[in-house]
Amino acid sequence: DRNNTGQLTKYYDILKDAAIYYYKNLRQNESALNYLNRRGISYETIKKFGLGFSNDAWRNLLDKLKNKYSISELEAVGLCLPNKDGTSHYDRFRNRIMFPIINPKGKIVGFGGRVMDDSLPKYLNSPETDVFNKSRTLYGLNLAKNVLNQKKQLIIAEGYMDVITLHTNGFENAVATLGTALTSDHARLMKRYADEVVLCYDSDFAGQKAALRSLDILHGIIEKVKVVVLGENLDPDDFLKKYGSEAFKEKVETALTGTEFKLNHLKQGYNLNDESSKIEFLSKAVSVISEIENNFEKNLHIERLGELLGVNTEMIAQEVFKGQYKKE
Ligand code: UTP
Ligand code: MN
Ligand code: MN
Ligand code: MN
Ligand code: MN
Repeated sequence: DRNNTGQLTKYYDILKDAAIYYYKNLRQNESALNYLNRRGISYETIKKFGLGFSNDAWRNLLDKLKNKYSISELEAVGLCLPNKDGTSHYDRFRNRIMFPIINPKGKIVGFGGRVMDDSLPKYLNSPETDVFNKSRTLYGLNLAKNVLNQKKQLIIAEGYMDVITLHTNGFENAVATLGTALTSDHARLMKRYADEVVLCYDSDFAGQKAALRSLDILHGIIEKVKVVVLGENLDPDDFLKKYGSEAFKEKVETALTGTEFKLNHLKQGYNLNDESSKIEFLSKAVSVISEIENNFEKNLHIERLGELLGVNTEMIAQEVFKGQYKKE
């Protein structure tokens, strides 16, 4: 049985050996150290996150580990791949800054690897393996979990660098979903550690779309969800470097509720000076408001919408509560 505990323990050992190799290797690579330095990452941070470097070579890691482990084991944890005709294997990660992904028990389950230039893919991640399930893994949770007993709030970012810069700026409650959309498994994992989730995605179009999707996934699992919008196309890493941690703290404290975020997002698609566009927005906004469970919050948004559009709030309320009365 490939899935027995002994085999899994072996997989964790392999991944740990690989991480140590990458970590030591980084110390010997000046261009990789320079890259991290340019991105504001100190030695202390390298150590804290166990960052490493994979050489620009086809089988450095393989050569290092092949006497200790079998090729099929190295392949099973995603560290090497067979070539086309299956006659030999090569290292998956080459010429990349290595970010070990560590689970809450402190076990390395996979890696992300970043190029140091503009080549693609920018990040390469370990494939799904017996020890790595992407939709159940949150980068940084191994560290974040230690601060979540005081304030049970999680900040959710998109990427590795966001988490690292957030942590070094004092936001140690930050984690990231890595290259995948947030899933209900992620949401349930968050629920084990926190009762409030603050979404803090990149403020580009993709990030804002992702926030809308995540709100839907989190609904019904996490009671308190807020959304930070950073603006200027910044991600948390960019924002912190540009404006600092006090400004970020302010952003978290003034984060939008899910409904506020949805309505703001919706509004962007309409020209409210145009009558028919305004009406369309109004009816879409009414359905967003109808989904709110709390009647006080519903009324708050009815008031705001009436004010924004110069429309009688009684009329909006009638529309909003129409569905509700029908159901009862
Ligand atoms: P971004 O494109 O926003 O990158 O992807 P980033 O995190 O800001 O990275 P830097 O600052 O340029 O270094 C967000 C996250 O999506 C995943 C990674 O986890 C990344 O951190 N991703 C992105 C991939 O898995 N593969 C990719 O090619 C790109
Ligand atoms: Mn992004
Ligand atoms: Mn609900
Ligand atoms: Mn980004
Ligand atoms: Mn970034």
